[in-house]
Amino acid sequence: MTQTIPAPFPALRLRRTRATGWSRALHREHILTPADLIWPLFVTEGAGVEEPIPSLPGVSRWSVDGIVARAKEAVAQGIPVLALFPNTQPERRSEDGAEALNPDNLMCRAIRAIKDACGDDIGVLTDVALDPYTSHGQDGLIDDAGYVLNDATVEVLVGQSLNQAAAGADIIAPSDMMDGRIGTIREALEAENHHNVQIMSYAAKYASAFYGPFRDAVGSRGLLKGNKKTYQMDPANAEEALREVAVDLAEGADSVMVKPGLPYLDIAIRVKQQFGVPVFAYQVSGEYAMIEAAVAAGAADRDTMVLETLLAFKRAGCSGVLTYHALHAARLMNG
Ligand code: PBG
Repeated sequence: MTQTIPAPFPALRLRRTRATGWSRALHREHILTPADLIWPLFVTEGAGVEEPIPSLPGVSRWSVDGIVARAKEAVAQGIPVLALFPNTQPERRSEDGAEALNPDNLMCRAIRAIKDACGDDIGVLTDVALDPYTSHGQDGLIDDAGYVLNDATVEVLVGQSLNQAAAGADIIAPSDMMDGRIGTIREALEAENHHNVQIMSYAAKYASAFYGPFRDAVGSRGLLKGNKKTYQMDPANAEEALREVAVDLAEGADSVMVKPGLPYLDIAIRVKQQFGVPVFAYQVSGEYAMIEAAVAAGAADRDTMVLETLLAFKRAGCSGVLTYHALHAARLMNG
């Protein structure tokens, strides 16, 4: 980008364009709208159930009927996409995560209910990874040493993706970080005539300390032994994120995601500048919890902080943001 050499003071006063509200509005470079938001929701069994998640204050798991009600609220506020995550009952979790392939699992029932109630008024994005279904909390199949097997896991992820697509999922979002899964899933979707089912790849997903409350929400925190460092990325690496993105795009990803969000804005902007594709960021559970903790401590104003952080993603080149604050932010914007 060319940078004009500024005229010397006082000919140039950068404060001049900031002096009034109309001028600030006129010079605003980026804008956040409800259409930039993807709202993650946690599904649980039962009817009429709301289960608050203590480590995510203000966020609950909802039974399928509640999820449909949330979907209608999202439509009313102009939120274009929901991201669904199941809290699978303990007795349905297993070593191999087979419940992920059950066409009647919680996830599929929630997808069908939303699509029945809202049709194409809202998109449904579904997470592809086995951690909500495994008894060990890892995202894939493990060997005797606990190592997550790549190719065997990809085979299951293909089945999981087809299962979700058959239930009506609009965007398949693999968050597992196995090698080769995007191409394999794309091929399977094409073979089953799911030509318009998109893939949003969690391309640059880091082994992060910011996922704790999410693992509470899907019930995997207590089960997880060890960590996810043999598949999720090292927070020290940026060049490697660009390789991950390049590979996923070559394999057919329609859009890519960077995760977590705010601590990795440098990655988001680099991906955008290098590839010029739709980039999304996930403001993850630990980021949400940090904001809420700051608010609870009287250290920050929720509304301004939420909108400022979300706008930062737009400034960094993102097409949209997954955020647990989505409904609140949309309501603020809609007035
Ligand atoms: C599962 C998955 C995780 C998140 C989204 N999908 C957790 C993990 O990788 O352990 C985290 C989202 C959040 O923290 O809000 N593969």
